[in-house]
Amino acid sequence: MRLCTPLLLCLAVALSSAFVISPPHMWTKLILTHHWPTTFCSMEHCHPNISYWTLHGLWPDKGIDCNSSWHFNSSQIEDLLPDMKKSWPDLLNPLSAGFWKYEWHKHGTCAAKADSLNSQHKYFGKALELYHKVDLDSILKKFDIIPSEKYYTFSQIEGVIENFYGIKPKIQCVHPSMNADFQILGQIEICFNPDFTLLDCETRFTMETMSKRDWDKLMAVDKASGFSVCDHDLPVYYPPPKTHTN
Ligand SMILES: *[C@@H]1O[C@H](CO)[C@@H](O)[C@H](O)[C@H]1NC(C)=O
Ligand SMILES: *[C@@H]1O[C@H](CO)[C@@H](O)[C@H](O)[C@H]1NC(C)=O
Ligand SMILES: *[C@@H]1O[C@H](CO)[C@@H](O)[C@H](O)[C@H]1NC(C)=O
Repeated sequence: MRLCTPLLLCLAVALSSAFVISPPHMWTKLILTHHWPTTFCSMEHCHPNISYWTLHGLWPDKGIDCNSSWHFNSSQIEDLLPDMKKSWPDLLNPLSAGFWKYEWHKHGTCAAKADSLNSQHKYFGKALELYHKVDLDSILKKFDIIPSEKYYTFSQIEGVIENFYGIKPKIQCVHPSMNADFQILGQIEICFNPDFTLLDCETRFTMETMSKRDWDKLMAVDKASGFSVCDHDLPVYYPPPKTHTN
């Protein structure tokens, strides 16, 4: 316990210790994750009726399940629901709010450590705002990256995103089997600074800056979800939406 008599000095000590304590728990990057419904549903056996990139989530780079007593409450985002249903649909269960609840608990409660995202309305509203601002689906189309039976090279896809946004995305694929000679485009992440300006996705997480154990853990998480960072040398299949035949 430190003794400090003049009021201002005490205040300064209190403030500086608050700053020393808070940064390690605070996130420094937000990851806006989009998924391609056709690829997602080929893994999960769902039947999407959607032919545009949808939101998967807005994830801070630190923290999981930060406040289990902060319950998801859809009446706090009532005005956002029409856009949520369109832009952030639950592909497995289109009529349920379960996906949003899951994302709020796992990621939203951690994002909420920043004043800019400290309510459900701010968190979901900002995710939708960034999703529309980025407008990934239109940008890919505009530069002729469209779902097709022909294959793209990885650098064609990455190049369009890097050139347009001026930052490095993280692009994830599904590998249909160990020795497959192609990969399937599945997920695209665009990253942001805490002030919501664009940021390279992988600057902070590379083999060089990470311990081997953390790196392996990260890879295992990706693998468990079925997605992993696309291979630069394999052709990329961007599957057209399945037409309904029931
Ligand atoms: C689903 O597909 C049907 C038939 O193709 C179409 O009429 C309908 O508008 C689609 N629904 C949505 C939500 O996209
Ligand atoms: C967790 O959320 C509850 C409900 O919003 C809030 O009252 C509480 O202060 C939060 N706890 C922390 C540690 O942020
Ligand atoms: C959900 O939010 C609404 C609007 O703020 C509030 O009236 C209601 O009590 C909340 N429900 C729960 C279960 O907290």
